[in-house]
Amino acid sequence: MGSLSRTSRALLGLFTFSSCLQSGLCSRAHTPQSSLHSRADETLPAYKNSSLCINDRVDDLLARMTLEEKAGQMFHAMLYVGPNGTLDQGDENRNSTDFVMGTQLLTHFNLVGEITDAQETAEFYNRVQQRAAETRLGIPVTLSSDPRHHFTENIGTGFDAGRFSQWPETLGFAALRDADLVKKFAEIAREEYLAVGIRAALHPQVDVSTEPRWARIPGTFGEDAQLTAELISAYIKGFQGDKLGAHSVTTVTKHFPGGGPMENGEDSHFVYGKNETYPGNNLEYHLIPFKAAIAAGARQMMPYYSRPIGTKFEPVGFSFNKEIVTDLLRNDLGFEGIVVTDWGLITDTVILGQYMPARAWGVETLSELERAARILDAGCDQFGGETRPELIIQLVNEGVIQEERLDVSVKKLLREKFVLGLFDDPFVDAEAAARVVGNDYFVRLGNEAQRRAYTLLKNSQDTLPLRSVGPDTKFYIEGFNATLLQSRNLTVVTRPEDADYALLRLAAPYEPRPGGFEASFHAGSLEFSAEERARQAAVYAAVPTVVDMMLDRPAAVPEVAEGAVAMLASFGSSSEAFLDVVFGVWEPEGKLPYDLPRSNAAAEAGMEDVPFDTRDPVFKFGHGLRYAERCGDGASGSCLKARGI
Ligand SMILES: *[C@@H]1O[C@H](CO)[C@@H](O)[C@H](O)[C@H]1NC(C)=O
Ligand SMILES: *[C@@H]1O[C@H](CO)[C@@H](O)[C@H](O)[C@H]1NC(C)=O
Ligand SMILES: *[C@@H]1O[C@H](CO)[C@@H](O)[C@H](O)[C@H]1NC(C)=O
Ligand SMILES: *[C@@H]1O[C@H](CO)[C@@H](O)[C@H](O)[C@H]1NC(C)=O
Ligand SMILES: *[C@@H]1O[C@H](CO)[C@@H](O)[C@H](O)[C@H]1NC(C)=O
Ligand SMILES: *[C@@H]1O[C@H](CO)[C@@H](O)[C@H](O)[C@H]1NC(C)=O
Repeated sequence: MGSLSRTSRALLGLFTFSSCLQSGLCSRAHTPQSSLHSRADETLPAYKNSSLCINDRVDDLLARMTLEEKAGQMFHAMLYVGPNGTLDQGDENRNSTDFVMGTQLLTHFNLVGEITDAQETAEFYNRVQQRAAETRLGIPVTLSSDPRHHFTENIGTGFDAGRFSQWPETLGFAALRDADLVKKFAEIAREEYLAVGIRAALHPQVDVSTEPRWARIPGTFGEDAQLTAELISAYIKGFQGDKLGAHSVTTVTKHFPGGGPMENGEDSHFVYGKNETYPGNNLEYHLIPFKAAIAAGARQMMPYYSRPIGTKFEPVGFSFNKEIVTDLLRNDLGFEGIVVTDWGLITDTVILGQYMPARAWGVETLSELERAARILDAGCDQFGGETRPELIIQLVNEGVIQEERLDVSVKKLLREKFVLGLFDDPFVDAEAAARVVGNDYFVRLGNEAQRRAYTLLKNSQDTLPLRSVGPDTKFYIEGFNATLLQSRNLTVVTRPEDADYALLRLAAPYEPRPGGFEASFHAGSLEFSAEERARQAAVYAAVPTVVDMMLDRPAAVPEVAEGAVAMLASFGSSSEAFLDVVFGVWEPEGKLPYDLPRSNAAAEAGMEDVPFDTRDPVFKFGHGLRYAERCGDGASGSCLKARGI
């Protein structure tokens, strides 16, 4: 019950802090020295005493730490769940969790894999904290995660919602242009994260999607920097609360200074996608959301893998780049928080069976040791996706890096744990997790957002919502399960020519890439192949067709807009959500979060770093029709529902 009341308090925004915790500064006459002096006869070390101020606790702990313990703090590694929520035993590609925690002394981890049982995940998390408590200093673990409230499933970028409430991708929030909804989402996501022990979000992704071919657009808020800035401020406040504390999830804003302007629209996870380019000299535009994030209290930042080409900056990956991390981010923009690198900059690895060289773009010839030194020199605090503390230890032992340099970063990292309350109560109530995660209310709000975010691009003769359909109406369908129509007492046929309507749920076009990991990135041309266009044309010619396209990238599909009687864009939605929109149970409310290019050639002709420069777009940013029949007064869906569909 304790956890549940904590939950509801946090939902109401009733954060309670002592004044000491808020500032971390001490009001009483208490100095680190005095706590050190009293160490010999104390019963409780000062860093474990929750009535002391955070700055003093940090100083006390740091003074007790060995070089090995400090080095361990500076790594943030992937954490796998073992069978039945046990600690992972490791395999030929990775060491056991016990080794990583007990010998390498890591305490920062990102949780890998879908959550299918909240209680089991919470029990696993408690086991991890128990293992942490058994280390010499008992420094608690901070568990982080990539987004897990949407539909994307990619081990490198996000996980399917699983047991969590499921929402449209962030693009769907951009389509709704509703900062209040974003805040509500973030508060709910925070509750679900807190319930299973996730205390750091490896998001939001505030890259501006000025290059329409980039595979990582679904995690962004689209093409407009101002809209992104407005929405991510609400996002950060929803996750963190007005002030970071024991009911907060700290956020990692990424990917500094904006991953959008990818050369040729490729992605910098991969060798062929190293370059970020600025032919329009428009880097400044991409900084707008980062400035807003800093103003909103963003605690952590992640630079992208890419290296800048054709700018005044050195053409090396952003985390290796002192001009980017120290001069631009810290000095010019005034960011004082933690900088964590993107995953895997030092060590070559294998992801889903695919060999992945370290993303050391521009510094490929440096040794692993030299890469680590470069990243520290650039001003980063933590190495993401790596377990190489021995490199840091060697750098200090060889005098290349001063231990004081580590202290600067380790202090920030420890302080974050104290502010999050992890030193005082790291455990969660596993039974409560089962009640909080995926509860009916959270799920309902997510489902509503999926429906509202639908964006109506075309609606000839007010075809939608489909009226007067009944058991005799015949549907030809693609992309979803016939049982969903049959359970609405509707008839499904197998040939377009036998149907009254066709309902197609299509994925936006992309060119499949090889490889286990690479295959989950939708990259390449924004057009359908000639064969696929011909296949669809036959359907459009045979029967009035409604198309729902999941626009994870701005597809170049003028022929769909031409051939379909009605066209919807979606940004992460269930098939039930689609059918509710088709039959008017819910009205689509979205507006496009980017331009839809006329062709892939038009996308190529645009400049990677410049928004809204595609010539003669099929639909423009902001386009989104509404159903003709409306109830008004914001009673979304309700009068349509009254029709009894
Ligand atoms: C914690 O610190 C306070 C303030 O210095 C002190 O009064 C108290 O005795 C300490 N508690 C323990 C258990 O050491
Ligand atoms: C997991 O739990 C189930 C049910 O308790 C049990 O049958 C199974 O053997 C367990 N698996 C492992 C690897 O412990
Ligand atoms: C386990 O850690 C040791 C020490 O860092 C390292 O040499 C070894 O390669 C790691 N093993 C695996 C499978 O990653
Ligand atoms: C990146 O830019 C450099 C410098 O213009 C160029 O030589 C290289 O071919 C580009 N592409 C890749 C993948 O490095
Ligand atoms: C369609 O749904 C039914 C009922 O939920 C299920 O049994 C069937 O496996 C599904 N078919 C496909 C192709 O997913
Ligand atoms: C489908 O038809 C059956 C039999 O007429 C009826 O009982 C049921 O309520 C209908 N379901 C829906 C969703 O209309």
